[in-house]
Amino acid sequence: MTHTNPHDHIDAMLHETRVIAPPEAFRARARVTREEYDRRYRQSLDEPDVFWSEVASELHWMSPWSQVLDWQEPHARWFVGGQTNMAYNALDRHVAAGLGDKRAIVWEAEDGETRTLTYAGLLREVKQAANVLLKLGVQAGDRVTLYLPLIPEAAIAMLACARIGAVHSVVFGGFSVSALADRINDAQSKVLITADAGYRRGQAVGLKKNADEAARQTPSLEHMLVVRRAGCEVEWQPQRDVWWHEALEQAGGEHAAAPLDSEHPLFILYTSGSTGKPKGVQHTTGGYMVGTYLTTGEVFDLRDEDVFWCTADVGWVTGHSYSVYGPLLNGATIVMYEGAPNQPDWGRFWQIIEKHRVSILYTAPTAIRAFMQHGDEIPGRYDLSSLRLLGSVGEPINPEAWMWYWRVIGGERCPVVDTWWQTETGAIMLTTLPGAHPSKPGSAGLPMYGVEPALMTRDGQELGPDEGGLLVIKRPWPSMLRTIYGDDERYRKSYWGEIPGVYFAGDGARRDVDGYVTIVGRVDDVLNVSGHRLGTMEIESALVSHPSVAEAAVVGKPDPVKGESVVAFVLVQDGFEVDPAELRAHVSREIGALARPDAIIISSALPKTRSGKIMRRFLRQIAAGKAIEGDTSTLEDPGVLERLAATPPV
Ligand code: WTA
Repeated sequence: MTHTNPHDHIDAMLHETRVIAPPEAFRARARVTREEYDRRYRQSLDEPDVFWSEVASELHWMSPWSQVLDWQEPHARWFVGGQTNMAYNALDRHVAAGLGDKRAIVWEAEDGETRTLTYAGLLREVKQAANVLLKLGVQAGDRVTLYLPLIPEAAIAMLACARIGAVHSVVFGGFSVSALADRINDAQSKVLITADAGYRRGQAVGLKKNADEAARQTPSLEHMLVVRRAGCEVEWQPQRDVWWHEALEQAGGEHAAAPLDSEHPLFILYTSGSTGKPKGVQHTTGGYMVGTYLTTGEVFDLRDEDVFWCTADVGWVTGHSYSVYGPLLNGATIVMYEGAPNQPDWGRFWQIIEKHRVSILYTAPTAIRAFMQHGDEIPGRYDLSSLRLLGSVGEPINPEAWMWYWRVIGGERCPVVDTWWQTETGAIMLTTLPGAHPSKPGSAGLPMYGVEPALMTRDGQELGPDEGGLLVIKRPWPSMLRTIYGDDERYRKSYWGEIPGVYFAGDGARRDVDGYVTIVGRVDDVLNVSGHRLGTMEIESALVSHPSVAEAAVVGKPDPVKGESVVAFVLVQDGFEVDPAELRAHVSREIGALARPDAIIISSALPKTRSGKIMRRFLRQIAAGKAIEGDTSTLEDPGVLERLAATPPV
């Protein structure tokens, strides 16, 4: 299953030797020093109960836990017997401490409209929304699906669910009707929260329209709560549909946050795995809260006066942990931007930073590479002096992009923290703490507290320094996923069963003599396109569901901006012709525009072994335009490779 990743920039990473020390001015007042990290990291492994009790005690618990961890592999329960509430900790706790007037969310629309919510204001709306959900009959444990643009209501809806113990399942607004319907059905959601439309590049994108269509295939849905964002015409079913603003207006403003068990489920978030069906990664209340609280504070060196901007949409885990929960748990001011990075031009991010005096920026390498392509001159036009820390997430960052980010955006003044983690891990696992550790561009870095990584072979042998292998985590941590919703067997098999006794991350990596881990890329059939996880099997099933396609194989191709692009090898059904535009539109309808193949290679055969297994390794080489390497003798017809290589993509 392991394959050598074809990325050229990965080679660059593995040969990178630059070391960038924390800037002195930053180091001098950093929250965590080297010594402190060493001491606390040791403690987190040697005395985990003491360590995690201390961290968790900084938050509010309605009743204390009796045991820090109950580990019955592969099932963990953290802060056993404790009761708490995520929304209380993110909001009420700060308002009670006198921070009610502090800005919680500064939202900016693509057209420049802004809206500011203070902690007290946000709390008021969350309480109202919680009362609305209760009135719609939502009870603790019920699932609520969110299909929203990146507007404050997305955070309000998440927090309202958390407040009453409903389990939110956020579906990215760019996903298609059928992707939305599948996720509603898998979660058996009672309520869908959506908006009339969102805006992207000046266009209103009709979310309610998609939601209406999805609702025809989702019998569990009882109500649709609709935010008026664009003011456009929508179809309305009076028994089912409720306007958000009307319901909130009528709802009471009082609501006491429900005391919830530490292990009460907080959310489900669907992500791609190596089979066709997305996995509903399930997180619970206590551990996820402690993990996101700790990492946001320490990795980003967060202070009261910071303005924190994580550019991720709430449809992804980064948007859950670092656009919403982590910063609010820390009482930070968050910037939220609903729009494209190049609207009206490639200066938009820098303009927002200047306008809102952003001090911490957390974004993805794909965005950094796109900015880099447009030159130093554009960011040079803006005042970026408010920035003091930069973060990167979602995919490996190549050293060139790292250096550009550090030099041009950070002015060599702001540490750059690369952060490795996953939907499943809930919070940052590997990074360099900004004042404590030097950075090695291209390497994610060292373990966070309580994280014990190792590099292993498939059969569980631990590897030494500089040996490439599979990244595993050797013990449970508070913010880890608890199961796959409705499919515990898949959870057991995919994570703690792949290599017995350890958590298998699905990434290939190596670790240097200083303990810095460099991620090479996925070792399973998961692509990372512009920082988004896509399963090759998901795209393949979308392709073969089109009548013109008999068979399909999807691989990734290294892409200078997106990291990877999607290449589809397609076998035509007898009697049909493949129309590439129609096929791309079909994949958009089945999954979403983000899964659309960049290149389609129409062929009459695929490279298969005699037992019928498609040899994707060769397809990756062909997609990348490389010479075929490796043993082709197991192929039924080695001539296929040459024919494929000679076929121009459409
Ligand atoms: C990749 C996103 C290298 C990795 C938070 C992982 C990274 C997958 C990094 C998870 C990084 C994430 N360096 N690779 N800093 N961060 N990845 O679930 O392959 O959307 O397994 O979570 O992204 O993607 P997910």
